[in-house]
Amino acid sequence: MIEILGGCSLLISVFIIFVVYQIYTVLTIAYTRSLYNGIPSPPLDNFLNGHQLTMVAAKKSNTFLDLFGAWCKEYGSSIMVFAGFRNILFTVDPDMFKVVTSDLNSFSKLDDLPNRSLFGQRIAGWNSVLTGGGHNWAIKRKIMSKFFAKANMSEAFEFCKPLMQNYVRSTLAQKVGKGQVLELHEEFSTIFSAYPAAVGLNGFDDPSTIGKNITKILEMIPKQLGKMSLTKILFAMGKEKNETVDMVIAMRTRLKAMSLEKSQEMKSSDSETQPTDIFGLLIQANERCDFQRDLLDEYVVDDILTVYLVMDNMVKQLASLFIFLESHQQVYHKMVEEIRQFTLTDCTSLSQLRYTEKVLLESLRMAPALLRGTRLLKTAGGGPTKIGHYILPSNTQIHFSQYLIHHNEDVWKAPDVLDPERWSGGFNPEPYTYMPFLAGPRGCLGKHFAMMTMKLTLVSLLQKFDFTPRLSKEKKPTIDQGMAVMRIRNNVDYELVPFC
Ligand code: HEM
Repeated sequence: MIEILGGCSLLISVFIIFVVYQIYTVLTIAYTRSLYNGIPSPPLDNFLNGHQLTMVAAKKSNTFLDLFGAWCKEYGSSIMVFAGFRNILFTVDPDMFKVVTSDLNSFSKLDDLPNRSLFGQRIAGWNSVLTGGGHNWAIKRKIMSKFFAKANMSEAFEFCKPLMQNYVRSTLAQKVGKGQVLELHEEFSTIFSAYPAAVGLNGFDDPSTIGKNITKILEMIPKQLGKMSLTKILFAMGKEKNETVDMVIAMRTRLKAMSLEKSQEMKSSDSETQPTDIFGLLIQANERCDFQRDLLDEYVVDDILTVYLVMDNMVKQLASLFIFLESHQQVYHKMVEEIRQFTLTDCTSLSQLRYTEKVLLESLRMAPALLRGTRLLKTAGGGPTKIGHYILPSNTQIHFSQYLIHHNEDVWKAPDVLDPERWSGGFNPEPYTYMPFLAGPRGCLGKHFAMMTMKLTLVSLLQKFDFTPRLSKEKKPTIDQGMAVMRIRNNVDYELVPFC
């Protein structure tokens, strides 16, 4: 009898806890959503899920950005989207872009997004120039800006040019001909993983292994996302998790040993001598940050891997350009004509490539390597504040999409057409309507490097080879709309035939 009573009271307790939790959930959701009254929002799937079911379905059918584009068209350029407990202000409003990208005191990067933690934690850590914030970020940003400044590009070019020539002459020459098809995404990954050497991040065992590992890790993420929800992914990634973690651990261990060696070398040399190379300066910068001392070498590794990680942006940018070029062959031929009449001498000679520049600007508009981004609002006193037209509570997540603003019909004529000529006659887009590199103090640090290396790569390849698309009809390459950082589904296959 006592046992039965004991069992019943346990059941009743569990039931009460369940009911209390449900009431808590409903009240919390209702309360936090009430804070956003007055901000337009699409109809909910249901109270508890908010818009989550529609979003998950759009991810599955690869129409995630199309969904947000349609919502913004119908309900407003800034809308509230609810996903369970998460409340997100999604915006494609240029005025909001301006506020979000310029006000560093109020907007920080978000740490708790599962895909950020996948990219961040595994590759660039939490405290790199890409992921960190505040005082530590400012120290590192200053150091890195110097190496990636426009004024430094001539020097970087002189490193990149022989790397590219060597790649074309030795690696690529052996792979082409006899009808062999190349996967461009993979080739660009090999090319760009060698470029960090241009700013002095060289001397590692095999930079292309680092680059390729990073590309491999990044490629695994969408596959995992396809299988499960974002929130579950961190907890259950199965076999692939171990593989990616092992790869990262191996890379990090090696780089950490090198960082330790270098910092000891710096300590034992004349303390008056200031380092001038990026590796030495990053070690020094991390020492100036308020980090735990025994983790300093870990943070230096984060910074090195950040540079390798961002190379993937150019890989995606050029691979996606060649998807568009398949259906815009006249653009391809015009670009090839310009490139083959051009003589590459020094970095400044690249500015003669007017049409190629327009093609790249257009490629960055059609599909910027970063399709969307996020920020977290933190108000000074923790209370609500006016941002744009709306009063927002502290801790609001702001999501924005540069891809969608680049495809807004009110801003761009025929936005879905790759039309380099729209950049003719010194055309300048309205402020905050073209932001492939974002804007403001946290805008892309490497945009000059990106443009220089993408042009150099195109010149080196197209002066030697004709590119014929061999894209699969059944498995056409497409851009994954579900990821913030561009991922390409399926192969970008091309046949390369020596031109001269
Ligand atoms: C096609 C090439 C590239 C594109 C489209 C691109 C785009 C962007 C965008 C949109 C951001 C802002 C992300 C955000 O805060 O939400 C960013 C940040 C950044 N980019 Fe790039 N990027 C490219 C290449 C590079 C290269 C070559 C470097 C070389 C170092 C680089 C370094 C960085 C860094 C360090 C940040 C973080 C800046 C900070 O938070 O202070 N990027 N990039």
